[in-house]
Amino acid sequence: MAGPTTQEPVKTQQKCIAIFALLCCSAVLLALIFSSVDIWGDDEDGITEENCSKDCRIVLVENIADDLSLHMDGRPRLPLSAGFHTLLDQAKYSVEIVSPVWNLNPWDQETIPSTAKQGQLLFQRLLSLKSRGVKLKIASGLTNSTELKSLAVHSAEVHFVNMTAFTRGGLHSSFWIVDREHIYIGSADMDWRSLSKRKELGVVVYNCSCLALDLHRVFSFYWQLHERDYIPSIWWKRVTALYGRHQALELQLNATPATAYVSTSPELFCPKDRTRDVDAISQVIQSAKTFIFISVTDYLPLVSRSFRGTSLTRYWSPIDEMIREAVVLRGIRVRLLISFWKKTHPLTFNFVTSLKSLCIQLQNCSLEVRFFSHKEQNEDLQHGLNHNKYMVTDNGVYIGNQDWVGSDFAVNAGVGLVVRMNTGLKDRGVTVLDQVRAAFERDWRSRYAKSLQGDKDQQDKYRHSHQGKYHVEDHEWNHPLSL
Ligand SMILES: *[C@@H]1O[C@H](CO)[C@@H](O)[C@H](O)[C@H]1NC(C)=O
Ligand SMILES: *[C@@H]1O[C@H](CO)[C@@H](O)[C@H](O)[C@H]1NC(C)=O
Ligand SMILES: *[C@@H]1O[C@H](CO)[C@@H](O)[C@H](O)[C@H]1NC(C)=O
Ligand SMILES: *[C@@H]1O[C@H](CO)[C@@H](O)[C@H](O)[C@H]1NC(C)=O
Ligand SMILES: *[C@@H]1O[C@H](CO)[C@@H](O)[C@H](O)[C@H]1NC(C)=O
Repeated sequence: MAGPTTQEPVKTQQKCIAIFALLCCSAVLLALIFSSVDIWGDDEDGITEENCSKDCRIVLVENIADDLSLHMDGRPRLPLSAGFHTLLDQAKYSVEIVSPVWNLNPWDQETIPSTAKQGQLLFQRLLSLKSRGVKLKIASGLTNSTELKSLAVHSAEVHFVNMTAFTRGGLHSSFWIVDREHIYIGSADMDWRSLSKRKELGVVVYNCSCLALDLHRVFSFYWQLHERDYIPSIWWKRVTALYGRHQALELQLNATPATAYVSTSPELFCPKDRTRDVDAISQVIQSAKTFIFISVTDYLPLVSRSFRGTSLTRYWSPIDEMIREAVVLRGIRVRLLISFWKKTHPLTFNFVTSLKSLCIQLQNCSLEVRFFSHKEQNEDLQHGLNHNKYMVTDNGVYIGNQDWVGSDFAVNAGVGLVVRMNTGLKDRGVTVLDQVRAAFERDWRSRYAKSLQGDKDQQDKYRHSHQGKYHVEDHEWNHPLSL
């Protein structure tokens, strides 16, 4: 039966396979070419890591609510809104912004117009960038912000990152890149409260294309995730970090030699060579010689994950461990300034009490904790809130977007900036480290920073009055213990 007639179909079959294979190959090739065009099309303006600028000017920017009476010393400090406006003044080609929130105009709220003015002003300036021929690019988490929609219609190109698809977290990153030369990183986001009611701290770095180039790679990473739910491995090369904790950028900051790099989280968002936020924090803590001052809204060494529909909470040790080691084994003075507000997790008190108890009967052991609260206005959650997220030591500073909460580092996207300086040089004048330290000490000594030591009754009262609310307001935490 198997005569010459069956030869023909076999041959055609082979031909078919060959053609099919060829088609497949060219499809793959085309896909590769197009994806690399997509990748390389967004060029880096001819500036490379060989000829980028390392002679930079860094400025500390802060927002302090009008009704917070903090003692200001004579040190230079630029209001945050002024920092944003200077950046916009500099812009010639492009402004790239990542922000978790877009709410510069408090339309839906009954607010005193004056407190909202700065946000509205900034929004108007962003809208008018187009008329100056400046491109505005925005990367955002999935939000329903009408402002973002209006910016997208009038002047901006907006890309969305669906964090739910990657980690079920949120995009907490907050930074600006202007002309790939100037940058902003800090606690503030594009919320009118950041420019009025909340206490924020960040830095603006001018004339620093090396750092901007690297931060831009983080931006490109978010940009490429638009309408995707996976991270293709081919992109890793394009968004590879230029600098990190093992090869930090050596630069001049206000004519003082320093090193710097950018870190990110979560781990899934750290392409090759990119330092994780937790490792950056670790490096800064471990290189401290005499003191570590930390100012964060929330401090909680717990990580909560949902597993088969139920929420599992685990102890998350990395930062807690490093602090313990620094205090007990290296004799470093540690101060923690944590915000005391409606969303303070009750276990925060247990964890910091545990940290404090380390020093009992130990000489040269100093760990102090204070809670920052602006009680008078407590109907509004955010009013007077210390939204800072930084750490300063005798030789370094870390300024980030995340609170020091295990879950945040695990699932939320954020960036951090590490700056380190050789403290041996005493003739260098006031550095940014000195400025951040002064800001910390100002807050620490203010009347809003309260120690909970020996005030157990108040703590208990606070707990009881808030206990019910945690379950309602904070869905992420299925409280594991009854307090
Ligand atoms: C930097 O180097 C690149 C390639 O080496 C070159 O194309 C570019 O013009 C240079 N830029 C400046 C500002 O020198
Ligand atoms: C988005 O906003 C519109 C109007 O502002 C509202 O009708 C809609 O319910 C919102 N959607 C979500 C998912 O919040
Ligand atoms: C975001 O990702 C989740 C999980 O993959 C998906 O269910 C949802 O539809 C996505 N949202 C959008 C707007 O693409
Ligand atoms: C950037 O450097 C240039 C040249 O040194 C200088 O003229 C300019 O004022 C600097 N810009 C800022 C914002 O410091
Ligand atoms: C404790 O500190 C004092 C003064 O700073 C120093 O003289 C002493 O050696 C320290 N003791 C220990 C055990 O480190």
